[in-house]
Amino acid sequence: MEEKKILFSAIQPSGILTIGNYLGALRNFRKLQSDYNSVFSIADLHTLTVKQEPANLRKNTYELTALYLACGIDADQSILFAQSHVSAHAELAWILNTICYPGELSRMTQFKDKSLKHEDNINMGLMDYPVLMAADILLYQTELVPIGADQKQHLELARDLAIRFNNRYSETFKVPEGYIGKSCARVMSLAEPQRKMSKSDANLNAFISMDDDPDTIIRKFKRAVTDSDNKIIYSPEKPGISNLLSIYSAFTNKSIEDAEKEFAGVGYAEFKVAVGEAVASVIEPIRQEKNRLLNDKAYLDEVLKNGAERAERLAYRTLSKVYKKVGLVPRKRG
Ligand code: TRP
Repeated sequence: MEEKKILFSAIQPSGILTIGNYLGALRNFRKLQSDYNSVFSIADLHTLTVKQEPANLRKNTYELTALYLACGIDADQSILFAQSHVSAHAELAWILNTICYPGELSRMTQFKDKSLKHEDNINMGLMDYPVLMAADILLYQTELVPIGADQKQHLELARDLAIRFNNRYSETFKVPEGYIGKSCARVMSLAEPQRKMSKSDANLNAFISMDDDPDTIIRKFKRAVTDSDNKIIYSPEKPGISNLLSIYSAFTNKSIEDAEKEFAGVGYAEFKVAVGEAVASVIEPIRQEKNRLLNDKAYLDEVLKNGAERAERLAYRTLSKVYKKVGLVPRKRG
C-alpha cells in the first residue's frame, strides 16, 4: 500500500441495517476510502456477544459483505474482511485484557444498556466487547476511525489502552482519532421522532431498512409522524418534520435551508412522498446490486479470502511486535 494514513472501521453482521447505518457509516466509508489506506471489517466476533442463530449469523455475514460492496467499497483499493478470519484480533484482545481494568468496562454505557436488554445473557464477551474493538483498531496502526456517536466511549478506551501499553512497554501503537460524520449523524424514528431510528424497533414502520423496496420506503414515509400545523421548517418544536428535512437533506446533498425553501407552501403529504422518493432513488440501486452479489457466493468468498490475507499480513506485523515487547518467546519455525 502507498503511504497514506490508515483508516479502520467495522460493522457487526447482526441483521438489518437502516438508512441510519448508511448515512452514519457506509456512505462515509465510500467517501473516505480513496484518501486513506482503508481497512473495513465485518465484526462477526463482536456479534457473538448477544445470542445468535448460527445460520443467521452466516447469512448476515454474506449480506453485509455484499452490502459493503454495493455501497461502493472497492475490495481491491481497500481491505474488506471478516474479523474471525484473522486470529490476531482475538490474540491482541487477550494481551490488551491484561492492561485493562474491569471498572473501565463495567461503566461503559453500551455495556449497561445491553445488560438491561439481554438480562438472560450478560456474558464476559459483552463486557469485553470494547477491548476486542480496541484490538481491531490498534492492530492496523490505525490513525482514523469513522464511528457512530454511540461508539465514542469505546474509541476513547482504545486510545487509553494504546497510550497505556506504549508507556509500559515503549512506543508500539499509533493512538487513533475518531471521526464522527457530520451530515445527519442521527436519524430519528419515523414513528417516535424523539427516539433514534433503530432496526430493533417492533414497529416496522419506524425505520427504513436497506432492504426496503421503493414502494415500502414511500409507504413508510407517508405514515411518518409529523404534527398538526402545516409548516415545513426545521425546529425543535417539530421533531417529525425536522427529521424528515434532515433525511431529505442528507440524501439529496441539499442544505436544510434550501430544502425548507423548496417545500415552502407544500403540504405534508406531498413533502413526505418527496422525501421517500429521494431516499428510494439512492437505496434502490444499492439493494439491487446487493442482491445481485448475493447470488454469487463464490465471488463473495473470494473477496473475503483476499481481504483476510491482506489484513493478516498487517495485523501480524503489529501482533509479533506486541508479543516480543511483553516478553513472550518468539516461536521458531522451520
Ligand atoms: N462496535 C462497532 C459498532 O457496533 C463495530 C466495530 C467493531 C467497530 N470493531 C470496530 C467500529 C472497530 C470501529 C472500529 O458500531
